[in-house]
Amino acid sequence: MALRFNTQKKMNIKTVVKNLAGPKLLGIFDYFSKPEYKNIWGGAFNGQAFRCAIFEELCETISFNVIIETGTFRGNTTAFVANKQLPVYTVESDSRNYGYVLARFLFKPRIHTIHNDSRAFLKVLAEDKDFPKDKVFFYLDAHWDKELPLREELDIIFATWRESVVMVDDFKVPRTKYQYDDYGEGKALTIEYLQTSQHSNDFQLFFPAKGDEHETGFKRGCVVLTNSPKCARRLSAMQTLSPTVPRTERRGAPPHCNTTAKSPEPDPAHS
Ligand SMILES: C[S@@+](CC[C@H](N)C(=O)[O-])C[C@H]1O[C@@H](n2cnc3c(N)ncnc32)[C@H](O)[C@@H]1O
Repeated sequence: MALRFNTQKKMNIKTVVKNLAGPKLLGIFDYFSKPEYKNIWGGAFNGQAFRCAIFEELCETISFNVIIETGTFRGNTTAFVANKQLPVYTVESDSRNYGYVLARFLFKPRIHTIHNDSRAFLKVLAEDKDFPKDKVFFYLDAHWDKELPLREELDIIFATWRESVVMVDDFKVPRTKYQYDDYGEGKALTIEYLQTSQHSNDFQLFFPAKGDEHETGFKRGCVVLTNSPKCARRLSAMQTLSPTVPRTERRGAPPHCNTTAKSPEPDPAHS
């Protein structure tokens, strides 16, 4: 009886503290009380070693000015990409997750954590004249539930940024067993979904050059997009990316969104 009373009392105190503190403060508390959160999902990029290699090679191929991530969650990918010593902007809509990363990156001046909707934040950056509009790496990972911001994120990015590269996580890599997100009718992260973007004729697609059997961790698929012929040429020369589906499974025509796309322009810097 006494034990039940104590447990009940403890539960009530927990609820009162929760309500008083608010989700942001709870997120800060999570950071200090739950060390296991720090490496959740096996670390950066869903614990995927090959994806980390794609990111590394992308950074060697294009000298990015800034990195932008949508969907921070607990900041595991944020912490990894910040090793490039570039400014990192990461936006999270959930208050508790935001509280967590606020505490995590408090003493990391290069990492800017933003509590907002990804689309609203991208619009703010798009309108900010002082914010770099070229050589930006975008990691789009703010997909979690039925309200999928991806199409609008892409529309804002491709209407504004030039010579930039976008990586979309959880994307279907045709003819492989990479995992991808499907939120129902018209909301699966596939090539067909990209074709509904206002800018689908402007960007070219690249996929991991190796199939899921060579990947570690959660084996989530991805696609890399660029609207710049110069960047596309450089991406085409990368070992870890391919303008077609992974080599082991390659069959049929390359899945370009832009069906009229020609070979990328020669890049004077690399000729
Ligand atoms: C899959 S998790 C991100 C994982 C993280 N990028 C990583 O690699 O560890 C998705 C996150 O996006 C957030 N999110 C969902 N919709 C959002 C939106 N519209 N704007 C900003 N964040 C959003 C969720 O709260 C969740 O924390």
